[in-house]
Parts: sequence; structure tokens; C-alpha cells
Amino acid sequence: MTTSRDSEGAHRPVSKVPAGGSSQTMISMTNVQKHFGDLHVLKDVDLEVPAGQVVVILGPSGSGKSTLCRTINRLEPIDSGEIRIDGKLLPAEGKTLAALRADVGMVFQSFNLFAHKTILQNVTLAPMKVRGKSKADAEKRGMELLERVGIASQRDKYPAQLSGGQQQRVAIARSLAMEPKVMLFDEPTSALDPEMVNEVLDVMVSLAKEGMTMLVVTHEMGFARKAADRVIFMADGAIVEDDEPETFFTNPKSDRARDFLGKILGH
Ligand SMILES: Nc1ncnc2c1ncn2[C@@H]1O[C@H](COP(=O)(O)OP(=O)(O)OP(=O)(O)O)[C@@H](O)[C@H]1O
Ligand SMILES: [Mg+2]
Repeated sequence: MTTSRDSEGAHRPVSKVPAGGSSQTMISMTNVQKHFGDLHVLKDVDLEVPAGQVVVILGPSGSGKSTLCRTINRLEPIDSGEIRIDGKLLPAEGKTLAALRADVGMVFQSFNLFAHKTILQNVTLAPMKVRGKSKADAEKRGMELLERVGIASQRDKYPAQLSGGQQQRVAIARSLAMEPKVMLFDEPTSALDPEMVNEVLDVMVSLAKEGMTMLVVTHEMGFARKAADRVIFMADGAIVEDDEPETFFTNPKSDRARDFLGKILGH
């Protein structure tokens, strides 16, 4: 673990150098460039995330937050630069890519559960197919995870029979079932009715406290203040601020960030 907790339960990055090596970097992006046609969507992005760190990504619509997340598990190829997960270069394609992608869990705004599979099947399918787990092992672990996100009693239902908040918690359990090293969340609560937001954020906060390396695109400032070690602010495809949450929220350096914060905190 590379974080420590202060009295309020938030954790702060602590530089920790294991014997014989440099401190463990879980996500590393170097000089990453990405275009969609003429549109330059990621402009020379450099980002290092140590193991166990929780990073919240903020920025106006179209600034490249989703694209950044999607390049990290190769849902989007990059034009140039380098992305490493736990020191390993992301391969272009093939079997190694499938394995590396399994190291990176991703939870989206829309839950994307398999509609014709039960809740438990949703959580056991990939561990059996991709990780080669036996059905018994996958179900044992699947039930532990459903327990953990508070949905174990719904195991035999289908996604449409669950509320949005419950479905999103299943989606988180399904990602965790692959034993990922990194979890990416792209606006995981923005499609939810307000009364269901907290049940999902609570699961994310507990994951953060357990030391999961997380990259979270969210407008939930409460989550950012409570669980983030670091806030990254993007504008026009570039990272323009990178700071501790308190510093970012109380003393943003750029006009873009001040303007953005004024808009989201102003109502
Ligand atoms: N598949 C695509 N093809 C072409 N352009 C795209 C594609 N995906 C995203 N873009 C463009 O890339 C830019 C960055 O988009 P991205 O979705 O990463 O922004 P974002 O910061 O996640 O925005 P939002 O807050 O609205 O989700 C936008 O201008 C968008 O229109
Ligand atoms: Mg987006």
C-alpha cells in the first residue's frame, strides 16, 4: 500500500520505495497523443499513478476525460506515446491484450450488463471465459463480491428487475470479479436517480479505502473530497492542473479551472 490515512479518513499519497526498486507505478502514460480525424483529443498526455492512488478527473464536456480512460484499457488505440499498466506496455492486440485489458476494470455511465443473464451469471461469465476459473470458484468469488456490494439476495434476478443503483453495483462487482489491478470509472453515477447515487459512491469509497488504484471521472465533489488523493483537471485534451483535492478546490491555478469550479459549485 502506498497511501496513508489522515484523521478524516481521506488518504494521501506517500512515496514508498520498495527494497530494490522504485516506487510502484500502476498506470503510466507518456507523451500520449490521440486524434479523431482533425480533432486533437489527447495532447501529449503524461500521467503517472502510483499503486493505491485514487485520482478524480474533472473537466468540461469534450475535454477528453472519457477518451483518456478508454485509451488506458485500449478501447481506443493511441496515435503515439506509451501506456503501461503495472510496468507492462499495452500491446497492440492479441491474447496479451485480452489479459492486460482484464487487469483494468471499467465501469461506465450505462451499466452494460448482459440482459439475458442472471446477476450471478453476469459476475461469473468473464472469470470463467477469460481467467479460466471453474464454475464453482467463479460462483464462490462472485457471491462474495455481490455480498460486498450489497446485492447477494438478487443473484437469480435479471438486470431489468433491479434498480439503476443496484445494476451499477452489479457492474462494479462484475469488474472486480476479474481481479483487476486498476479500476476506471467514467461518470458511474450520472445516469442514476439522485437517491441511488450514494449507494454506488459508498461502494467506490470502500474500494478506495481498501487500496484499489482508481481513476474516476465524476462530478460528485463529495466523492472527490472524501476519497480522492489527487484531482486532475483536463481542458481541450490536455492535463492543465494536477493537485491534491483541497488545493485544487480552494486554490485552482488556471482561469479554466476557476471558471469550471464556479459553474459546478455555484449551484
Ligand atoms: N469516436 C469518436 N469519434 C470522433 N470524435 C470523438 C469520438 N469520441 C470522442 N470524440 C470527440 O473527442 C472529444 C473528447 O471527447 P470525450 O468523450 O473524451 O470528452 P469528455 O471529456 O469525456 O466529455 P463529457 O464530459 O461530455 O463526457 C470531443 O470533442 C468528442 O466529440
Ligand atoms: Mg465523457
